[in-house]
Formats: sequence, structure tokens, C-alpha cells
Amino acid sequence: MKVIIARDYKELSKKASSILASQLILKPESVLGLATGSTPIGTYEELIKLHKQGVISFSSVTTFNLDEYYGLDSNNPNSYSYFMRDKLFNHIDIDNNRVHIPNGLTKDIQKECQAYEKKIIGKGGIDIQLLGIGRNGHIGFNEPDIKFEAITHLVNLDTDTIYANARFFKDVKGVPKKAISMGIKTIMNSKKILLLASGEEKAQIVYDTLYGKITPETPASVLQLHPNLIVIVDKQAAKYL
Ligand code: F6R
Repeated sequence: MKVIIARDYKELSKKASSILASQLILKPESVLGLATGSTPIGTYEELIKLHKQGVISFSSVTTFNLDEYYGLDSNNPNSYSYFMRDKLFNHIDIDNNRVHIPNGLTKDIQKECQAYEKKIIGKGGIDIQLLGIGRNGHIGFNEPDIKFEAITHLVNLDTDTIYANARFFKDVKGVPKKAISMGIKTIMNSKKILLLASGEEKAQIVYDTLYGKITPETPASVLQLHPNLIVIVDKQAAKYL
């Protein structure tokens, strides 16, 4: 694994966007795995800048997002579909037909999850998967558990996750209790993984992830087994490294 310690969130975002940009320069038809949450917002802003400067194009890119809340319409401002349009897709030249996010309104979970897996495989797999990390060690919405959940599936969100994500909602009661998430195997099958963490509240989980025991109780710890993992943390998140 390659661990890069950035001065601050701004530098972290610039470094992450440079890695993603070089991926697109080297392979314009890349398949990107994307994340939501606060952490990648700066990276998306930098990618938009690089696109506007003419350095990168997304016109041949395919994307798969990690997760979506179950029960939220894609036009709901709290849905991850809306987030992605707002923070990235509306500002770049991506073809919407190549954008994939689990359908939170599906009536047939199993079919939706299987179709999502099939689409990823059909595109030749994910070239680079961008990840944030929950304070409880979740990646995507793979919450601490007694086993690693392999493929895209319906998740019961942890209380910790519900409270952590309540900041985006009017109140904690509004946060969905379930989500559809790529599984650990789906994530681990990516050719390259770029894990980002910022801020002191992530310091302990970053340490446990990279140097602790590999256990489904710390889902992100499985990343230690990935052959091509890049981790970018700011100084605060690197406090225990
Ligand atoms: C988002 C996702 C989550 C977040 C994690 C960290 O698509 O899958 O695993 O990456 O909850 O969220 P932030 O960045 O808001 O701290």
C-alpha cells in the first residue's frame, strides 16, 4: 500500500484529483468507482477545474457509485444521485447513459443488486475506486459485521452512520435506515483503490484500517489485502500513523 500524507484537506483533494486525472489521461474510457459524503467533495471540485481547463474529459468515462439510500427518489436532494449531479456530473462532459448508481426505489432488491454487479463486470470491472471511510470503519455502506458481505446488497445502516449522516438531513429521524451498497468483494475487485480520509475524527479508524487486525468488525481493514491501494490522508487523520 502507498500512504500519502497531505498537509491539509486542500492538498489531499488536489493529490486525489491528480491521481484520477492521470487515470483519465492514460485511459480515457476508464471505469471509475465513485463515493459521496464530505470527503470527496474537494476532489470533485478539483476535477471540475481540470475539466474546465481542458486537461481532462469524461466523455468516454463510465461511473459506478458505491451506494444509494434505500427509499429515496433520485430527485430527493438527500439522495446520492442528486449529490453526484450537484457535486460533479452537472459540471463535466459525462454521458449520463454511462453513469450508474443503485436505484433506491427498486421494488426488487435482489434483481437490482445482481444487475448492478453484472453491469460492473460487463464494463470490464472498475479501474479505480474512490473511497471515503466511516468512523466505524465502513467503506461504501458495508457496516461492521461478523462477516464480509461480498456483493451489492441491501444494508441496515448502523446507528453511528445514521447519526454521522444526520448533518445532511433536517433531523436524524429523516435519515433512511437502509441503503443499497456495493459489497466488499465488489470493491476489492477494483483494479486500483484510492482511499481518502480527512480530519482528526478519522485518525483512529485510519490507523486500525491500515495496521490493525483484518476483521469484518472493521470492514475497511480488508483493504490491507488489496494489491494496489493508495491512501491519502491529511495530517489530522494521520495523527496515529
Ligand atoms: C459514501 C460512502 C461512505 C462514506 C463515509 C465517509 O458513498 O460510501 O462510506 O465514504 O461514510 O463519509 P464522509 O466523507 O462524509 O466522512
